[in-house]
Amino acid sequence: MSFTLRLTTPPVALALMAMLAGGTMLPARAANPPDQATPLALTAIMRDLGKDMQEVTDGIAREDWPAVAQRAARIADHPQPPLAEKLRILAFMGKDAGHFRDYDRQAHDAAQQLAQAAQRQDGAAAIAAFANVQGACLGCHQQFRQPFREHFHAPR
Ligand code: HEC
Repeated sequence: MSFTLRLTTPPVALALMAMLAGGTMLPARAANPPDQATPLALTAIMRDLGKDMQEVTDGIAREDWPAVAQRAARIADHPQPPLAEKLRILAFMGKDAGHFRDYDRQAHDAAQQLAQAAQRQDGAAAIAAFANVQGACLGCHQQFRQPFREHFHAPR
C-alpha cells in the first residue's frame, strides 16, 4: 500500500482492506457501524435458555428426571434467529463466527448428554453434563456478550 493511498483512503475503507487481507490491524467489528434498528430475536432465545437452565436445576433438586430430560432437549434444540438476523450477526462477527458456532455446538452436545443422563436417571452424569452446558454458555458470553450489546443495543 502506497503512502498516498494511505493518506487519501478513509479509515473505514482501510479497516475493510485490512480485514480482506486477513490483517490484524483492526478487529473486524471496528469496521462495522452499530446495527440497532431491529431488536435481536437472539436476546429472547437467550432468555428462554436461561429459564430452561433454571428448570433443569429445579428438576435435578427434585430428581424429576422426565422434567430434566424435557428441558435439556429444549436447550439442545433451541430455536434459531431468522435468516436475516443470522446474516446481521455473521456480518458483525467476521472471522470470529467460527468460535461462536463452536460454543453453540458445545452447548448443544452437552445438553443432549444431559437429556440422555436424565433418561437413564443417572444423577451424577446429569450434573457433570449440566456443568458442561454451563461452561459453553459462559465461554460464549465471555467472548461475545459485551461486543453484541455494544453493537446491537442502543445505549440507555
Ligand atoms: C454461541 C454463543 C452463546 C451461547 C452458547 C449461549 N449464549 Fe447466551 N448470550 C449470547 C449473546 C451474544 C448474548 C447477548 C445477547 C444480547 O445482548 O442481545 C447472550 C445473552 C444471554 C442472556 C441475557 C439475555 C438478556 O435478557 O439480556 C441470557 C440469560 C443467556 N444468554 C443465557 C444463556 C444460557 C443459559 C446459555 C447456555 C445454555 C447460553 N446463553 C448460551 C451468546 C450465547
